[in-house]
Amino acid sequence: MESSYQSVYEASCREPERFWLQAAAAVDWDVAPRQALDDSAAPLYRWFPDGMLNTSVNALDRHVAAGRGDATALVYDSAMLGTRRSYSYAELLREVELFAGVLAARGIGRGDRVVIYLPMVPEAIVAMLATARLGAVHSVVFGGFAPRELAARIDDARPAAIVTCSGGIEPSRRIEYLPAVAEALALAGHRVSDVIVKARAGFQHTVDEYRGSQAAGTAHADSTAHAVQWHDWDRLAAEAEPAGPVSVAATDPLYILYTSGTTGAPKGVVRDNGSHAVALAWSMKHIYDVGPGDVMFTASDVGWVVGHSYIVYGPLLAGATTVLYEGKPVGTPDAGAFWRVVQDHKVNVLFTAPTALRAIRRADPEGALVKDYDISSLRTLFAAGERLDPETCQWAGAALGVPVIDHWWQTETGWAIAANPVGLEQLPLKPGSPSVPVPGYQVMVLDGAGEPVPAGVEGNIVIKLPLPPGTLATLWGNDERFIQSYLAIFDGYYTTGDSGYLDEDGYLFVMGRTDDVINVSGHRLSTGAMEQAVAMHPSVAECAVIGVADPLKGQRPSGYVVLKQGADIGEAQLRQELVALVRSHIGPVADFKDVQVVQALPKTRSGKILRKTMRQMADGDEYSVPSTIEDPSVLEDLLRVLRP
Ligand code: COA
Ligand code: AMP
Repeated sequence: MESSYQSVYEASCREPERFWLQAAAAVDWDVAPRQALDDSAAPLYRWFPDGMLNTSVNALDRHVAAGRGDATALVYDSAMLGTRRSYSYAELLREVELFAGVLAARGIGRGDRVVIYLPMVPEAIVAMLATARLGAVHSVVFGGFAPRELAARIDDARPAAIVTCSGGIEPSRRIEYLPAVAEALALAGHRVSDVIVKARAGFQHTVDEYRGSQAAGTAHADSTAHAVQWHDWDRLAAEAEPAGPVSVAATDPLYILYTSGTTGAPKGVVRDNGSHAVALAWSMKHIYDVGPGDVMFTASDVGWVVGHSYIVYGPLLAGATTVLYEGKPVGTPDAGAFWRVVQDHKVNVLFTAPTALRAIRRADPEGALVKDYDISSLRTLFAAGERLDPETCQWAGAALGVPVIDHWWQTETGWAIAANPVGLEQLPLKPGSPSVPVPGYQVMVLDGAGEPVPAGVEGNIVIKLPLPPGTLATLWGNDERFIQSYLAIFDGYYTTGDSGYLDEDGYLFVMGRTDDVINVSGHRLSTGAMEQAVAMHPSVAECAVIGVADPLKGQRPSGYVVLKQGADIGEAQLRQELVALVRSHIGPVADFKDVQVVQALPKTRSGKILRKTMRQMADGDEYSVPSTIEDPSVLEDLLRVLRP
């Protein structure tokens, strides 16, 4: 008998327009689309060009209207504060209507951008949905980024407002957000009109400090650059009128999410409203098997795509309960933290990054802490963000007694490209593989010349155009960069930037990136951006940053620097200063801690640094030396440093 996966997959390839128009019926439209695909500007495609809807209505209002207002939409569980709070769908809707009213009163409307710089607090979700309610466009920035990265995003997205709070809580310290926002505003060329601040107890800086300096016309330490108005969230909300939803075109942007490219300039991935809602609703049912009454706990951060899709939009579009967990997998207080959350909130589906599982395993190798909790509600564990190594996968499966489903995707696609679609049919699992292409994605593996390679042979993983709904429409304000970065490499295909192979059974194996993007603890980072920061040091003549294999974090960034002639600096001091430079330019999330001084870097005759060869050498793998190498003797010195 033909499997249901197979028949659904084939239908999605045979008649994609019919397939996705049918899937669109799961969404509430103001004007239902009659056309599925607009290919008039190929290779730029748009889905559902004649549809109109509002995403916040689909995430909230319609569940309330269907009589599910009392069902729990959101559980906020803070291991950092030892607190928890639940919001029913009706309560969350009220908060969102009110904050949409706050934004509307500041003049924000359809198409305006709002930067959201918030940690894992409910206000992050409220601000995202309130922005969507007005037809405005949010851009959430992860709290681990430094002011300079925030400024780069402000200059690219050109927001009318920034929504933030007093700060975030890391196990070892409190991160003050207000000085960071003020510094970013001072660095940015773009003028932001309003900063709205949710007050959190326990932080040094308050919004009044910034409001006060503004009112008195005095120069606050960091906020002199622009005449920004700082507001207290609660004070504005107390006076606000709830705002109704604005109906927008399906093709209107819902959000911009910046992700690392190979250069220092982040890429603003644009997601639209209509196809996003359709794709996520489809994925909740068919990939995760989550619907009304189910509880999903995605242990990521709202600042990443996984947080956007499966902490915020996916579970709410599906009418399920989402758990917003402010804490770490270990140390808050121990490696049983996730299992405690599963027990306390009767979680059915848990989604996390392999790094988190490795951290838990390292702290609790026997999985003994699992036995302290009742995790009988748990049906499935999903992992993504980086390769799930077979050992960790096996360990988690044995410890939890549930299927462990690896799935592969990226910020650009917004939802899984390859997965084991358990909601459709659970296919046999193969360790090391995220299973099979998801319906809608025609995945192929090509060699450098663009020719398909046979099963089992590694090459460039590409997706035949058009991409399915829910994937990126373009890069913000830069169609040309979108085309050049993804669509112009292999004609007719989207290039994922990952390399891997399909086996005889059509299972995909993703082996690593083909570019200089690295993945540290499931966080995607650009080595190019780190090199830019390192190169600013006055003693550094040139440098290379590569991702070296790390047993916990997947990869860790390692910097190799050549000093300027006559540079007079000790290696320990240099290391300290370079680590501080990267931290202040990119942020602590870069996790840049390794620096080594070398005599020279291996290069081709045209001056390209051989980063791949360096990475292979550092990982202890067999390394390839291109015939175009300028001076092979450089490798001998390097080998002594890389493999001491
Ligand atoms: N705000 C400010 N700083 C942050 C931050 C945030 N939101 N998140 C992380 N950082 C900081 C950390 O405090 C740390 O700073 P330090 O160098 O001063 O200690 C640095 O960034 C690196 O943090 P992290 O990557 O969390 O490493 P760690 O060694 O502190 O913890 C793990 C290791 C495995 C516990 C942690 O990386 C983890 O939870 N990983 C899972 C990540 C994940 O879910 N990714 C999924 C994305 S889809
Ligand atoms: P991000 O855009 O931050 O989600 O990172 C996407 C990148 O992470 C992908 O292009 C892959 O390189 C890697 N990645 C994500 N999920 C997986 C997975 N399941 N297996 C292997 N690599 C993955």
